[in-house]
Amino acid sequence: MQKKISKEIVNMLEGYETISGKAGYAVFIHDTRGNIFEVNKRAEKLTGYPRKELLNMNVMQLHTKKELNTSIRKLRLIEETKREVEFGSQMQKKNGKAINVKITGDKFKFKNITFVIGMVREIAPHAKLWKAKKRRSTTKPNSDKFSKQVKNMNKEGIGSLHLLIEIAEARDPYTMKHSVKVKKYVELLARRVEFSEKNIESLKLASMLHDIGKIGIDQDVLTKPGALTKAEYSKVKKHPLLSTKMIRRIPVVDKQISKIVKYHHENYGGGGYPTGLRGTKIPLGARILAIADTYDALRSNRAYRKAYSYPEAVGIMKSERGKRFDPKLVDIFLDCLQSEAKK
Ligand SMILES: [Fe+2]
Repeated sequence: MQKKISKEIVNMLEGYETISGKAGYAVFIHDTRGNIFEVNKRAEKLTGYPRKELLNMNVMQLHTKKELNTSIRKLRLIEETKREVEFGSQMQKKNGKAINVKITGDKFKFKNITFVIGMVREIAPHAKLWKAKKRRSTTKPNSDKFSKQVKNMNKEGIGSLHLLIEIAEARDPYTMKHSVKVKKYVELLARRVEFSEKNIESLKLASMLHDIGKIGIDQDVLTKPGALTKAEYSKVKKHPLLSTKMIRRIPVVDKQISKIVKYHHENYGGGGYPTGLRGTKIPLGARILAIADTYDALRSNRAYRKAYSYPEAVGIMKSERGKRFDPKLVDIFLDCLQSEAKK
C-alpha cells in the first residue's frame, strides 16, 4: 500500500521534484505523523541515509533532540494551517553531524490522505543567528545579506520556472509553443483593457504556465487523433489543478497567478472545470486567458483536426459569447485582432 501510493506521488510531482532538486532542495514527502513516503536524491545527500532507509524512517528521527519539540510543533502547524510554513531547525546526518537547515513545509491531499511536502535546505550556522537578530530589531534591515537573500530567492524562483518550462517543452512541444503564442494574445487584450504593468506580467507568466500540468497526463491521451473517451477526458480535465499544484511552491508564483491558472477552463456561462465557477466570479485574468487560449487552439493544427482559418475561428469565437467567454471581453479581443490585421 505504502509503496504504491509513493510511486503515484512521485509521478504526480515528478516535474516539481526535478525542479526542487535542481534548485538545491532536499524534498521529503511524509504523512502528518512524519512517516516518510518519498524523498529525492538531495534528501539522500543531505542526510547521508540511502533512500531505502529513509522510507522506513520518521522525519522526526532526522532532527536533533534540541530541535525536536519545535519541529513537532511546526508539523502540527503545517497540518492545521492553509499556508506554507517556514522555519529553521537542526538535523542530524547519518554520521552524527548536526546541520542547520531551513524548512518550507506545505500539505496536499492525495487519494484522501493528507501528505506534507518538506523542502529542506542547509544553511550556514550564522544564518539562523542573523534571522533571530533581525526579528528583534525594529529598524528596516538594510544589510547586504538581506538584499542578497531576497535577490537569491527571486533568482531561484525564476530559475525553477524556466527549468519547469524546459521539462514541459521536452515532453510536450505543442503545449509550450501554444503557451508562447497565448502569452502574446493575452498581452494584446490586457493592454486594451488597461491592466497595470504588474498585472500584465502576472498574466503573461500565468499564460506560460497554464497547461504545465499536462506533463502529468499520459502522452497517448494528449495526442490522440480521435475523440476522447469519457475516462480520457476526465484525465485531461485534471490539468488546471495539476498545473496549480506544480507551480504554487515556486516563490515568484503568487495567488493571483495561481488563480488564473486554476480557472482558465471555467466557462462564463457555467459548466466549465474544475469548479464550475461562472460569470464575473471567474477572475478577470482567467477570463482573458480563456479567450487567448481558445483562439490560438482554433488557429493551430491539432492531432484530430486542421487549423481553422481566421474567419472560421472568429465565427466560432463569436458563437461562444456568453457561453465559453465573457461577451464584452471577446468583442474587445476580436476588435484587437482586426486592428492588428490592418497594421
Ligand atoms: Fe488548459
